[in-house]
Amino acid sequence: ELDRIPHPPRRLPLLGDVLGVDRRTPLQDSMRLARELGPIFRRRVLNREFVFLWGAKLAADMADETRFAKHVGLGVANLRPVAGDGLFTAYNHEPNWQLAHDVLAPGFSREAMAGYHSMMLAVAGRLTGHWDRELAAGRTVDVPGDMTRLTLETIARTGFGHDFGSFERDRPHPFVTAMVGTLAYAQRLNSLPMPPALQRRAARRNAADIAYLNDTVDALVAARRESGRGEGDLLDRMLETAHPETGERLSAENVRKQVITFLVAGHETTSGALSFALYYLARHPEIAARARAEVDRVWGDTPEPGYDQVARLRYLRRVLDESLRLWPTAPAFAREATEDTVLAGEHPMRRGGWALVLTPMLHRDPEVWGEDADRFDPDRFDAKAVRGRAPHTFKPFGTGARACVGRQFALHEATLVLGLLLRRYELIPDPGYRLKVTERLTLMPDGLRLGLERRKAPV
Ligand code: HEM
Repeated sequence: ELDRIPHPPRRLPLLGDVLGVDRRTPLQDSMRLARELGPIFRRRVLNREFVFLWGAKLAADMADETRFAKHVGLGVANLRPVAGDGLFTAYNHEPNWQLAHDVLAPGFSREAMAGYHSMMLAVAGRLTGHWDRELAAGRTVDVPGDMTRLTLETIARTGFGHDFGSFERDRPHPFVTAMVGTLAYAQRLNSLPMPPALQRRAARRNAADIAYLNDTVDALVAARRESGRGEGDLLDRMLETAHPETGERLSAENVRKQVITFLVAGHETTSGALSFALYYLARHPEIAARARAEVDRVWGDTPEPGYDQVARLRYLRRVLDESLRLWPTAPAFAREATEDTVLAGEHPMRRGGWALVLTPMLHRDPEVWGEDADRFDPDRFDAKAVRGRAPHTFKPFGTGARACVGRQFALHEATLVLGLLLRRYELIPDPGYRLKVTERLTLMPDGLRLGLERRKAPV
C-alpha cells in the first residue's frame, strides 16, 4: 500500500531520505517536501518509514474518532523518559490517562479559568514593568525570551502557586534551559544519526536535564505538601482530588510527570504563539491599528480588564488564530488506525498503522484557504468565513479526545496579554529582520526583537 505514496526522488541506501535535510529543521524540511510531493508522502530515515499528510480531505478523515486515535510516536514518544504517562505522552490504553484527564479537566472549566484571570493579570504586569524599563533605557525587547518568561510564570503561578523569578533574571531560568535541552534532544532523535561520541555526550546532557526537571518539580511538590493547601490550583487537584467515580488518586510518581507536563506544555507553545502574533502585528500596522481600536472600545479606560472583557476582543482573537494557522506552534500530531480501514477511500491502513498530520501545511491547503494561503489575513476567521469552511481544517490544538486540554487557558492568556500590550505600546519592527523559525519540537520566531513607543492615549 505504501507504494502508492510518493517519496523524495533520491533515496540513499541505508540512510534513506536525508539529502538536503537539516537536523535542526525537520518540520520546515517536511513542509518543503510537502510542497514538492503533494498531500500525502513518505520519508525514510535509516530503516524507518514515516507517512506524512496534510491534504484537507485526508486530515478530516483522520479526525474520525471511531476509526482513528492519537498515536504516541516520534517526538511525543521521545518525551516519554521525561513526561512518562503524564497526560500528553500517555498511551491511549494507559489507565492513568483517563484518571488524570477526569481529575484535571475541571481545572480548565470556565469557573477555574475565571479564577486564574487575576493571576494572569499580575504576571502580565511584570512583563509591562520589564518592557517599560527596557523602553526607558532605549533598548528593543527580546520577544521570544520575554514571552517565555511570561508564559512560564503564568502556568507556574496559576497551576502551582510557584514563582520562578523569570523577570528578575537576565538569562532564562535553568528550568527553561533544561526543558529546551530535552525538547531539542527529543527532536534530534528522529533525524539524522549522530556520531557515537556526540550521541553519548548528548544523552548524558539530556539525563542531567531530566534530573534537573525532576528535582525542581519534587521540591515544588514537597513545599506544597508541607504548607498544606494552595488556592485550589492544579497542584491541589493533583494531590487531593479523587476520581469522582472510582475514588482513585494520582500516584506520587504520576503527579511528578503531570507537573512537568503542565509546566512544559503549559508555556512553551503559548510563548511561541504570542511571539508569532507580535511579529505579524508589528509587520502589519493596519491590522495592529484595528486590533488596538477594538481594545480601546471594549476595555475603555478600566485599568484592569475583567475576565469577560477578554473574550469580547473578537478581532484580536482572529489575529491569534491567523498566527496559529500559519505557525501552529505544536506543528504536527500523529494519528493511528484503530481498525483495518481505508483512509479517505484511497489508502488502505492496517490497525495500528499511523501517519503524521503536518498542521502548518494543512493550514495552507489551497483547496481550503485559497491560493493566497501564505498571506496573513485575520479576516479568514470572521464568523462568516468560518461557517463557510469545511470542518477539521484548522487544528492548532490537535483533535478528538486527546486534543489540548489547555486550549482555553492559552487563548485567554494570549488574548489578554496581546490586548494589554497593544493598549500600552506601539510596536516598531526592525526593518532588517527576516522571519526565521527555530524548531525544538515546538516553533519560535528566532531572534525577534521589537522597538516600543509608549502610547499616549488612553491608559
Ligand atoms: C495537547 C497544542 C497550550 C496542555 C496538545 C496537543 C496540541 C496542543 C496540538 C495535542 C498533541 C497530540 O495530539 O499529540 C497547544 C498549543 C498551545 C497549547 C498550540 C498554545 C497556543 C497548552 C496549555 C496547556 C496545555 C496552556 C496547559 C495549561 C496540554 C496537555 C495536552 C495537550 C496536558 C495533552 C492532552 C491529553 O492528551 O489528554 N496541545 N497547546 N497546552 N496540551 Fe496543549
